Amino acid sequence: MIFMAQIQFPSHMSLASMVMVILFTTTSPIFATKDCNFPAIFNFGASNSDTGGMAAAFGPPGLPYGITYFNRSAGRYSDGRIILDFIAQNFGLPYISPYLDSLGSNFTHGANFATFASTVDIPTSIMPLGKLSPFCLAVQCTQFKYFILNTKLIRDQGGVFSTLVPKEDYFSKALYTFDIGQNDLTAGFLGNTSIQQVNATIPNVVDKFIENIKNIYNLGARSFWIHNTGPIGCLPIILASFPTSIKDGYGCAKIYNEVSQYFNLKLKEALAQLRSDLPLAAITYVDTYSPKYSLFQNPKKYGFEFPLMACCGNGGKYNYNSRGNCGQVTSGTQKVVGSCLSPNTRIVWDGIHYTEAANKIVFDQISTGAFTDPPIPLNMTCQKNST
Ligand SMILES: *[C@@H]1O[C@H](CO)[C@@H](O)[C@H](O)[C@H]1NC(C)=O
Ligand SMILES: *[C@@H]1O[C@H](CO)[C@@H](O)[C@H](O)[C@H]1NC(C)=O
Ligand SMILES: *[C@@H]1O[C@H](CO)[C@@H](O)[C@H](O)[C@H]1NC(C)=O
Ligand SMILES: *[C@@H]1O[C@H](CO)[C@@H](O)[C@H](O)[C@H]1NC(C)=O
Ligand SMILES: *[C@@H]1O[C@H](CO)[C@@H](O)[C@H](O)[C@H]1NC(C)=O
Repeated sequence: MIFMAQIQFPSHMSLASMVMVILFTTTSPIFATKDCNFPAIFNFGASNSDTGGMAAAFGPPGLPYGITYFNRSAGRYSDGRIILDFIAQNFGLPYISPYLDSLGSNFTHGANFATFASTVDIPTSIMPLGKLSPFCLAVQCTQFKYFILNTKLIRDQGGVFSTLVPKEDYFSKALYTFDIGQNDLTAGFLGNTSIQQVNATIPNVVDKFIENIKNIYNLGARSFWIHNTGPIGCLPIILASFPTSIKDGYGCAKIYNEVSQYFNLKLKEALAQLRSDLPLAAITYVDTYSPKYSLFQNPKKYGFEFPLMACCGNGGKYNYNSRGNCGQVTSGTQKVVGSCLSPNTRIVWDGIHYTEAANKIVFDQISTGAFTDPPIPLNMTCQKNST
C-alpha cells in the first residue's frame, strides 16, 4: 500500500476538539498568506539535488549526462535539470552554486552542500576507495556553519568577493531544502545488510536527520522544505540487483518500496514533532514518493514509455548492469555508455536518477501543496516573520 498523507485523529477526541485542531491547523500563524520572497536557497542532500558538489570534489560525470539541457553534465545526475533547479527558477533565482566549487561560483542567492552518494548517517566506506560521499549531512552542516561565519568576514572586508556572498539577512529569509536518505537505504541493500537490518536502522537515521535540521535552525534558518525518499524499488539499480524480488502490479520491487515508505512515515512523524518543538520555523514535509510512484503507475498519462528501464545504460532487462554505467567507457567495446533516443519519453535516466522530464513533472506536482504536510504551496512556505 502506498503511504498517503493523512491526518489521523485519535478515536477519543471529541468533535469539538477535532474542529479546534482543524481551525488551528488552517489558521496557523507560521505561514504567510501571500507569496514568499525567498532571496536565497541553501540545499543539503545527495545526488538528487547535487548541482556540482561531487563534480568539484571527484570530477564530473561525463556526457551524455546533461545532454538534454546543458550540453555538458553541469555536475548534475540527470540528462538535464533537477528538482532543485526548478525550485530556484520558480523563485527567479539563479541555479544554486555548489559550495565545494571554487571556480565561477556566486553564492549571493544561496549555496548547495549536496553531493552524490551523501548519507544522513556517518559513512563507513568513503570515496575514492569506498562508495559513499565523505560529505554526509553532518559535514554539510559544518560547512554551512563556517559558510555563515566566513561570508560575514568577507562582507566586512568589501571588494569583489563581497559581491559573491549572501547579504546577512538572507540567512533568516532563505528557503532551506533537503533531499537525503536514499543512500542510507541503498548502501545497506547493495552492501551485506539484510532488508530487515536496513529497515531497523531507519529510526536512528531519521533521528540524525532531525538533529541536523535542528543544528541548521540554531544557525538561523526558519523556512524548511524537506523531501522524503522516492520509490527505491522501482529503480533499475534495485531491480537489476535483486531480480527475484517480489514485484507489485507495476513491476517495482515491493519490499524495497516498503522500506522507503517506512523511512517516509518516520520522517513525517519526526517533522510533525519538530514543528511543535520549533514554533518559529515553517517546516514542510514534501512527499516526493507519491508523484514519483504515479509516474511508474501511469507512464502513458505523462508521455513516458518503458518505465522501469534506464534511458542511459548498457543493456539487460532494465538497461542497467555492472559492466558499465551511463557515461562510462566499457572495458569490452571501449564505447561510452550512451543515452536512449528520446530521454524526454523516459522516467529513469541512468538507473538511479530521474530524467529532466520526470523531475519537471514531480516539481510541478509538489510545488502545488498537494503532496506536502502541511498542504501549502511552495510559494507560501515561508515563516511569516522572515518576509
Ligand atoms: C554540445 O557540445 C558539443 C561538444 O561537446 C559541441 O560540439 C556541440 O556543438 C554543442 N551543442 C550545442 C547545441 O551547443
Ligand atoms: C553575483 O551575483 C549577484 C546577484 O546576481 C550579482 O549582483 C553580482 O555582481 C555577482 N558577482 C559577480 C562577481 O559576478
Ligand atoms: C557478508 O556476510 C556474510 C554472513 O554474515 C559473511 O560470511 C561474508 O563474509 C560477508 N561478505 C562481505 C563481503 O562482507
Ligand atoms: C520495518 O519496520 C517496521 C517497524 O518495526 C515494520 O512495521 C515494517 O513492517 C518493517 N518493514 C519491512 C519491509 O521489514
Ligand atoms: C509561484 O511563484 C512564481 C514566481 O512568482 C510563479 O511563476 C509561479 O507560477 C507560482 N506558482 C504557483 C503554483 O502559484
